[in-house]
Amino acid sequence: METLLEKYIEAAKQVDPIKCVGRISKVQGLLIESRGPAAIIGEICRIEAPRKRGVIEAEVVGLRDETVQLMAYQETGGIEVGNRVVASGRELEVPVSPKLLGRVLNAQGQAVDGKGAVQSALYYPAMGSPPDPLKRKRVTKRVCTGVRAIDGLLTVGRGQRLGIFAGTGVGKSTLLGMIARNTDADVNVVALIGERGREVNDFIENDLGPEGLARSVLIVTPSNSPPLSRLRGAYVATAAAEYFRDQGLDVMLLFDSVTRFARAQREIGLAIGEPPATRGYTPSMFDQMPKLLERCGTSEKGTITGFYTVLVDGDDLDEPVSDTARGILDGHIVLSRSLAQGYHYPAIDILASISRLAPEVSGPATNKAAGVMRRLIALYAENEDLINVGAYHAGSNSAIDEAVEKHSEIRAFLIQEVTEKSSIQDTLSQMARIAGSPIPETETDIKTKQAKE
Ligand SMILES: Nc1ncnc2c1ncn2[C@@H]1O[C@H](COP(=O)(O)OP(=O)(O)OP(=O)(O)O)[C@@H](O)[C@H]1O
Ligand SMILES: [Mg+2]
Repeated sequence: METLLEKYIEAAKQVDPIKCVGRISKVQGLLIESRGPAAIIGEICRIEAPRKRGVIEAEVVGLRDETVQLMAYQETGGIEVGNRVVASGRELEVPVSPKLLGRVLNAQGQAVDGKGAVQSALYYPAMGSPPDPLKRKRVTKRVCTGVRAIDGLLTVGRGQRLGIFAGTGVGKSTLLGMIARNTDADVNVVALIGERGREVNDFIENDLGPEGLARSVLIVTPSNSPPLSRLRGAYVATAAAEYFRDQGLDVMLLFDSVTRFARAQREIGLAIGEPPATRGYTPSMFDQMPKLLERCGTSEKGTITGFYTVLVDGDDLDEPVSDTARGILDGHIVLSRSLAQGYHYPAIDILASISRLAPEVSGPATNKAAGVMRRLIALYAENEDLINVGAYHAGSNSAIDEAVEKHSEIRAFLIQEVTEKSSIQDTLSQMARIAGSPIPETETDIKTKQAKE
């Protein structure tokens, strides 16, 4: 007859005491494999590596038979075969509160600015989902960036998502800095993903300054951090922006750069054995990018306006990252190397750039003036060679005459010092002067009017 004790022994055998604990079986490059624990994709596990570093946090990126594939947020040096892997039962979250303003976080949502932890009882999941498309408000209000070329000719709406496309060193980061300092959005969330570490302090001290920093939160994952960390930084930044949007605010998300995000995804995809598709990018990149970018935009409560920089490889706008991003975003600002070389900054190529929502967020007179200016810029560009060699004779064509006559005025409008802020009233009145059609007072005031509504 079975005794009570035997019953208990039998029950104890049924329980798997090491369910939440696994053991490292392999470390190869970025990829760490362990037998166990039972965990889901995205779950955070703690690898106990007592010999060198104590505890290393890693995330489950793949499950294959009995094997759990992990990637670490930090360097993996010091991990040995046989180290314990403990599943935490939680996924990546970000502490959110108004106290985030003025702070700098890493990819795990931890403060790295030496001002102590961000205290909060509320956490947002890093891998949140986009708002219900049917509940999203339409983009109807203008957001000012303080940059004339954008506010005037590429007007951006609150909740719009734009790409800034350019090759290396053409002024993407500098332009983001100008927007961060001068925008009239309520809050900035700045994501510095995979960029040079030295640029972080530059951005904080030069581009933001103390005033800009006070209404910004930065999420920083420099280029020397592991790919998982670069990837997650992007999601953590988006989650922080979502929190402020849920408070009913207009958020400006400045994201530098989508290319580094995509490359981090490629490194991870290749490491876990995904097949490379186009230019080595694995299918997960094409799947993850829309998921990230779709979280930006309007919701029922507030808006996130997104400026995402895209590094255009070899100035080829059809490479996979540019192509995928352009398909998702509601507009693109193209920076031109030849303008930058001519010290025309910001080097925005107006004719190659478009803001798809500009007509809906600016008044009819502004739209008309922008149209006139674009036509003059296009006419001048078409005839520039003739004009430069003196083969164009004034008086042959009145439209070209006007383009030539207004050329230097338009150039002066488009060129703007990094430190110069242009109010929307100034921008629109300069446009009115160039286009020869006054812009009504109410239109220059659209923003203030709407803010009161
Ligand atoms: N508005 C500007 N006025 C004057 N100089 C500028 C301006 N924008 C950019 N530059 C010059 O161009 C350089 C590169 O700018 P920036 O770092 O913004 O380019 P980037 O496109 O972000 O480069 P990378 O691809 O390396 O990230 C700056 O160091 C500066 O010298
Ligand atoms: Mg840059």
